[in-house]
Amino acid sequence: MKTWFITGGTPGGFGRAYADAALEQGDNVVLTARRPHLLHDWAAEHPGRVLVLPLDVTDGRQVRDAVKAAEQHFGGIDVLVNNAGRGWYGSVEGTSDADARRSLELNFFAVVDVLRAVLPGMRARRGGWIINMSSVAGLRSVTGFGFYSAAKFAVEGITGALREEVAPFGINVLAVEPGAFRTHAYAGFGDEPVEETVGAYRPAIEALRKTMIEQSGRQPGDPHRAVRAVIHAMRQDDPPHRLVLGSAGYDTVHTALHDMLAELHAQEPASRNADHPPAPCPGPASRRCPRPRTERRAGTCKGLRRSR
Ligand SMILES: NC(=O)c1ccc[n+]([C@@H]2O[C@H](COP(=O)([O-])OP(=O)(O)OC[C@H]3O[C@@H](n4cnc5c(N)ncnc54)[C@H](OP(=O)(O)O)[C@@H]3O)[C@@H](O)[C@H]2O)c1
Repeated sequence: MKTWFITGGTPGGFGRAYADAALEQGDNVVLTARRPHLLHDWAAEHPGRVLVLPLDVTDGRQVRDAVKAAEQHFGGIDVLVNNAGRGWYGSVEGTSDADARRSLELNFFAVVDVLRAVLPGMRARRGGWIINMSSVAGLRSVTGFGFYSAAKFAVEGITGALREEVAPFGINVLAVEPGAFRTHAYAGFGDEPVEETVGAYRPAIEALRKTMIEQSGRQPGDPHRAVRAVIHAMRQDDPPHRLVLGSAGYDTVHTALHDMLAELHAQEPASRNADHPPAPCPGPASRRCPRPRTERRAGTCKGLRRSR
């Protein structure tokens, strides 16, 4: 039996879906939320197996206290789901500095804070799973959500490095990239007027806000099916490093990676020509020839040809 520690547990979101799936497979759950009273009835349905804790993930002290309380209650954390997060719309130029920083604080620095609080326990027990909820926006920037995209790209960056660093301790790390999923993620935009500071972008941002509000409740992705896919991925002998979720998300990432690779290939000469020129070659037969032995033997030493 494992113990899960999940942030952002408000009913209707991914956090609660993770919690329900963990309970279904017989595990214990620490579910944290800024408004824990919303979870009390649910917790009462699972006596002894659920601990609900108050947690604003942008408050470092609360993060450390919640992790400590969870470890004391269940004896350790086996699975961390870094789930709490949300996006704000606005252009890159016209988003206020405060909002830009708020997005990075919540979607990136808080993720790091929670990781750092949980990792000592996992390292000590030499095992665990870290699930970082990223987004398709962490693999391909979304226009009008530049700072959310930046934060999720940062989550991807830290996740890749972390995976390598903690593997020797038996800890697995997975980045999850949902497309559009039917949670409360878009609903809140209705109460949030556009606060774009540069008028030139305002029509585009207003249109984006309208689209998001219209899509609320109609997103194709099912968070419960998504979470089951994550658990399936965790059970694989060779688990994936990333899991893109939802058909539209898959297509978006596929196109983005395809286009990126095509552009990389198209620019290959420019990329390679940015190196210092190869060292002058004393001749393809010489051992001091800097080219691989196979090239020297084949007489195809490019270093020699270029130095002539
Ligand atoms: N739904 C999607 O289409 C989608 C797509 C890509 C990625 N994601 C990612 O999935 C994760 C979960 O989002 P969701 O779709 O489940 O949206 P959601 O229903 O809006 O849930 C977001 C959760 O984050 C919590 N949260 C926000 N600020 C917080 C803070 N400072 N401290 C603690 N908790 C905080 C919210 O709490 P309150 O209720 O108190 O605000 C809520 O529990 C996020 O990281 C999001 O970026 C979602």
